[in-house]
Amino acid sequence: MTMNEPQSPAILAAAVAAPAAVRHVRLLRWVRDIAALTKPDRIEWSDGSGEEYDRLCDAMVAAGTLIRLDAVKRPHSFLARSDPSDVARVEDRTFICSEREEDAGPTNNWVEPGEMRRTLDGLFDGSMRGRTMYVVPFSMGPLGSPIAHIGVEITDSPYVVVNMKLMTRMGSAVWDVLGEDGTFVPCVHSVGAPLAPGAKDAVWPCDAKNKYIVHFPERREIWSYGSGYGGNALLGKKCLALRIASVMGRDQGWLAEHMLILGVTSPEGEKRYVAAAFPSACGKTNFAMMIPPPEFGGWRVTTIGDDIAWIKPSADGQFRAINPEAGYFGVAPGTSYESNPNAMETLRENVIFTNVALTDDGDVWWEGMTRTPPAHLVDWQGNSWTPGCGRPAAHPNARFTVAAIQCPSLDPEWDNPDGVPISAFVFGARRSDTVPLVSQARSWEEGVYKAATMGSETTAAATGKVGEVRRDPFAMLPFCGYHIGDYFDHWLRMGSRVSRPPEIFAVNWFRKAADGGFAWPGFGQNMRVLKWMVERCAGRAEAVETAIGFVPRYDDLDWSGLEFELERFVEVMRIDSAQWARELGSHDTLFDRLGDKRPGVLMDERARLEGLIAM
Ligand code: OXD
Ligand code: MN
Repeated sequence: MTMNEPQSPAILAAAVAAPAAVRHVRLLRWVRDIAALTKPDRIEWSDGSGEEYDRLCDAMVAAGTLIRLDAVKRPHSFLARSDPSDVARVEDRTFICSEREEDAGPTNNWVEPGEMRRTLDGLFDGSMRGRTMYVVPFSMGPLGSPIAHIGVEITDSPYVVVNMKLMTRMGSAVWDVLGEDGTFVPCVHSVGAPLAPGAKDAVWPCDAKNKYIVHFPERREIWSYGSGYGGNALLGKKCLALRIASVMGRDQGWLAEHMLILGVTSPEGEKRYVAAAFPSACGKTNFAMMIPPPEFGGWRVTTIGDDIAWIKPSADGQFRAINPEAGYFGVAPGTSYESNPNAMETLRENVIFTNVALTDDGDVWWEGMTRTPPAHLVDWQGNSWTPGCGRPAAHPNARFTVAAIQCPSLDPEWDNPDGVPISAFVFGARRSDTVPLVSQARSWEEGVYKAATMGSETTAAATGKVGEVRRDPFAMLPFCGYHIGDYFDHWLRMGSRVSRPPEIFAVNWFRKAADGGFAWPGFGQNMRVLKWMVERCAGRAEAVETAIGFVPRYDDLDWSGLEFELERFVEVMRIDSAQWARELGSHDTLFDRLGDKRPGVLMDERARLEGLIAM
């Protein structure tokens, strides 16, 4: 601080045009300093109102960034088309700049924090010239919840502001929770495209060549440069709610996880909550919003969240979880009235679509939405498209952004500040062989081993390489903000923080049959597995023990309404010792990278499993 450093909140507030409700001196100074660095033309403080949302959307329509969809077919909804260089999260440009390299670990990109700050200072210097700098206060989790945390995102993208309104509890009420000295995570975002005076803006401004998604875990700070897309730019999501929150969880004794949370209610009215981790693009939103088959009359699945769970031990001896988000940023392709009717109903109005196709009557379409595509579309890049032209109409990572309150299956407890009690953790991934439809761990340690060694086959959308197994521990590989070995250790220790730890299950909806097709029908039929899992938690369902844990026999699953012969069940449940011996061997490639942070407990588990598989 210099001798001339203004002390009074009023003087600081006037300097950055802050509303009267902002009384937080540290925050005001931070805004002033970021403005001095990035040099925007003006500063706007987001109030989160509907009026603000409409005004920003109208301005983006006028600028060509948003296309207004048909007022009857898709009321109050918009389509954005991103720059083709800016269509997904950029894992290779994502950095965990902890003080010590060993705290970032082998699965994160690390740069020495001082060096990274110098790089960021250069990139952000004048990066908002010609633009408006928005100050966006948001709460991850119900406002004022003991499990929630506050963030403030400074951004030069109005697209980010309106998406943050749908994805978080955003707006003026946050200032009251923050008061004069509350804790917040500062998040700085610039699309990295300063505008020269009089220059015409791009429809999707970004820096096509240079992107940095940077986390300073000790200082709980996020800086993002060059991208306007999804998790790169909506900094409450992957950056705050997973990477930074996972570090907070390690330090404070809780868990920030890449998990959906759903409620299952039996016909007798017994309700349990399940948190489930799947890698990106493995159907988390579909599972979270599942509609049970008609024969499961009386069973209901309700949705707390589709992507992230914050889980804390509570005084009643259970883990309680909240969804820190307030909306869905879901993958559109593949979403249909067949795969996810609840999502389709959620998307009827008030949606921002990004990189889907536009129909000739002002609505949207994507691959898999209907069996027959429309005869003509405008594709995600704005070009004319006809079926069979050889190009996808929607980008494979095209998204919808929509508020959770529009979801018909939204659980009544979704906004409960105390969270919901978790009965089961489920870990699932995409495997065409080896991993059976479902198995249950015999102990917390075995469950942690299953989760730590999760592997998923890559999809073309993610890497261009199809079918390669990538180890994705706890589905957190791109999201853990610290050393993954320490993270395993944290999970092992958390098991004893509650007297009634959840049961742990592994599932695989993606096993292939001999003919190359999926062996399991998936989607709503997953209810059969979910029912078995919750009844195992209640101590009611039967199982047999195998080398890799408890599994259901054919008669232990409820088959009413589905013809699924015993032979197909045997195929989808096969535990092949040769495949499992190879599988355990391939776990070592992950463990070898952990060096002396390889938890001994997991090594013991591995040895025990090897013995059981060889038997
Ligand atoms: C997501 C992801 O967007 O996991 O949720 O990539
Ligand atoms: Mn995700």
